[in-house]
Amino acid sequence: MPVLSNERVSMTSKRKSIHGQWSSRLAFVLAATGSAVGLGNIWKFPYIAGENGGGAFVLVYLLCIAVIGIPIMMAEVMIGRRGRQSPINTMRTLAEEEHASGHWQWLGWAGVMAGFLILSYYSVIAGWALSYVFRTGSGLFTGLTADGVQSIFSNLVNDPERLLAWHTIFMVMTMVIVARGVRHGLEKAVKLLMPALFVILLVLVGYALNSSGFGQGVSFLFHPDFSKITANGLLIAMGHAFFTLSLGMGAIMVYGSYLPSGASIARTCIAVSLMDTLVALLAGLAIFPIVFANGLEPAAGPGLIFQTLPIAFGHMAYGSFFGMLFFVLLVFAAWSSSISLIEPAVAWLVENKGLSRVHASINAGIATWSFGLLTVLSFNRWSDVKLLSAIEIFKESTIFDLLDYLTANIMLPLGGLLIAIFAARKMSREATVEELGMGDRFFYPLWRFLVRYITPVAVSLVFLYALRDIRLIRTILGVIGIS
Ligand code: TRP
Repeated sequence: MPVLSNERVSMTSKRKSIHGQWSSRLAFVLAATGSAVGLGNIWKFPYIAGENGGGAFVLVYLLCIAVIGIPIMMAEVMIGRRGRQSPINTMRTLAEEEHASGHWQWLGWAGVMAGFLILSYYSVIAGWALSYVFRTGSGLFTGLTADGVQSIFSNLVNDPERLLAWHTIFMVMTMVIVARGVRHGLEKAVKLLMPALFVILLVLVGYALNSSGFGQGVSFLFHPDFSKITANGLLIAMGHAFFTLSLGMGAIMVYGSYLPSGASIARTCIAVSLMDTLVALLAGLAIFPIVFANGLEPAAGPGLIFQTLPIAFGHMAYGSFFGMLFFVLLVFAAWSSSISLIEPAVAWLVENKGLSRVHASINAGIATWSFGLLTVLSFNRWSDVKLLSAIEIFKESTIFDLLDYLTANIMLPLGGLLIAIFAARKMSREATVEELGMGDRFFYPLWRFLVRYITPVAVSLVFLYALRDIRLIRTILGVIGIS
């Protein structure tokens, strides 16, 4: 049963979250930044930028953040704060209040599913980072060449038992925090660790600045060559804008549900997006010069940072120390992201199944951990399993690749599209004006215009354009005589 009465509540301040509230707007900014900044910025952004040709990809990604990401983030926070429950119950309550279809609660369910799928592989990759804390700290990389660094990485991913062990440790870490409630401890940790991560990224960029590959790295990232980007690359850039800002599945919605009334949503979302983007660009600036200085392949794939940064750590003064610090901070960044992936599910289990937070976390954690085994195996025993090899763009895709593609490039943008439609077309104008609290002049109409027209059209266009590129769909369209 939903915990809150479903009578029409016109003033948001009347509704309270049973899970508590952030202590201030700053606490929310920190938590949302903690959720946004993670493996997506430091591990994923560089490797997908590398695989998709660099500059043009980066430009599309930045555009998507500005035009699609920020407005949708505002919509998510707004919906969350108005509903003050898990995304599933929030969607149900608000749909009822706005006289929209009860089917909107499925959006909450789809989000829970997406979070579950993402966390299942996110935790495996975070496990890699965890193991690198010890590898760098012990001086393993000192003086090693690119080849040596590469073989250390292959040894790790080729060993399912080791991956499983680190994945298990990271899942336990995540569930401990979630069980205690995301507000305890998290605020303080993020306040300290995010700036530290930022500083160490600057140190790495400083190192890259002196390497022979810096010019080439900068030009790779910032010189757009549109001949290098494919339709599928466009979809990946858009999907990543959702992934990196934690949008489209209810994570930011559930964090919004703990946001005190009266805090400015717009300013908060812009601040979070700027910090997130800055971290990703710094990571790119740290990594690509090393790639080019050592004759490595920008399109090396998911192992990219694990095959490049250790070269730098192996050659700089106090490299073992900096290396260890870097991976510790990366683990913290991943940790503060992973909890938001599972929080919607846990909040729902507490609200509707009457479980304690501890039990809810254990159940959700075990389910996610089990599913993560697919990712563990897809780097070794099952590395040859290519389920969709009949489709050109998935010819080389492992189970992990497909999971990542399905969630980041399909589920999140679809979720975001529906969130935009709900916020700007189903919710009444008065409700959104009141909740966003930024007056009725310039900025509100701008937001509404973006979310009503630009965002849905942009997302749909990228979808259609990319789908057209998929052979199988083309074949089907051909058979039914459409293309
Ligand atoms: N944004 C995080 C990152 O970049 C990952 C993440 C956390 C996420 N919560 C999310 C992605 C919700 C999508 C949806 O690492």
